[in-house]
Amino acid sequence: MLKKFIACSVVSVFVLCGAASFSFAGDTGPADITIVGAKSKKPKPAQFPHKAHQDKMECGECHHGMADGKQVPYAEGMKIQKCDACHNKETLAGKKSGKLKLDTIKGAGHGNCLACHKDVAKKDPAKKSLKSCKTCHPKKK
Ligand code: HEC
Ligand code: HEC
Ligand code: HEC
Ligand code: HEC
Repeated sequence: MLKKFIACSVVSVFVLCGAASFSFAGDTGPADITIVGAKSKKPKPAQFPHKAHQDKMECGECHHGMADGKQVPYAEGMKIQKCDACHNKETLAGKKSGKLKLDTIKGAGHGNCLACHKDVAKKDPAKKSLKSCKTCHPKKK
């Protein structure tokens, strides 16, 4: 219901304002996402303020696709899938990036989210809490 409503609003705004004023008119996904891993209790599933990241960075910072088993960069209009559509034991069996197992959601999450948070924390000590576990895996619900 809600999805339909949003889709309609997007369409009507699009028609009223014209395509030229839009840099992006596709599906941007939910504003906040809980990313649940295989062991969803310990630690707590990762909390992800999607919209807040979209406001600061490009989609391709996190999203990519696959062709012939290889990663292909994000391109506007590309079909966006959940990370575990590929980062699972079947599709990317045995693939690694350094120590990270890319056939798990943890590998995808830490390779993307945690790697960036560590970079930011290194460059700006005021943001060092970004790399702490509880930033993404909150202690309480
Ligand atoms: C920048 C965000 C971020 C930080 C910081 C982070 N993680 Fe994660 N972590 C994730 C994401 C995303 C996942 C995949 C979704 C999930 O399992 O919650 C994940 C998954 C995991 C998993 C696998 C859970 C499962 O269900 O399979 C473990 C264990 C884990 N993290 C431990 C840690 C520890 C310990 C720390 C601190 C050293 C940490 N994480 C810091 C984002 C983060
Ligand atoms: C900082 C990383 C990051 C950025 C930047 C980002 N996303 Fe996402 N997006 C994610 C993650 C992580 C998910 C959840 C995937 C999952 O549940 O496995 C997601 C989910 C989505 C979904 C829902 C997919 C589904 O099938 O449930 C859509 C649509 C989406 N993003 C579109 C976008 C668009 C469009 C942009 C740019 C305007 C963007 N995202 C920017 C990380 C990001
Ligand atoms: C359509 C399939 C597909 C989806 C969906 C996908 N990935 Fe990937 N990803 C790949 C492939 C293929 C590779 C390269 C694996 C290899 O050959 O080592 C990769 C590599 C990676 C790597 C390691 C290389 C690098 O770029 O740092 C990370 C981290 C990663 N993905 C995170 C994510 C996250 C986070 C999401 C969800 C927002 C996601 N992936 C969604 C297919 C996918
Ligand atoms: C390319 C860099 C980058 C990636 C990738 C990224 N983040 Fe972030 N994240 C940031 C920055 C920068 C902030 C905001 C820091 C600020 O302005 O205070 C942030 C903020 C957050 C916050 C809010 C922290 C707070 O205390 O307000 C959470 C939670 C978070 N990210 C989780 C995640 C998760 C989970 C992922 C992966 C799905 C992810 N991030 C991917 C850079 C990134």
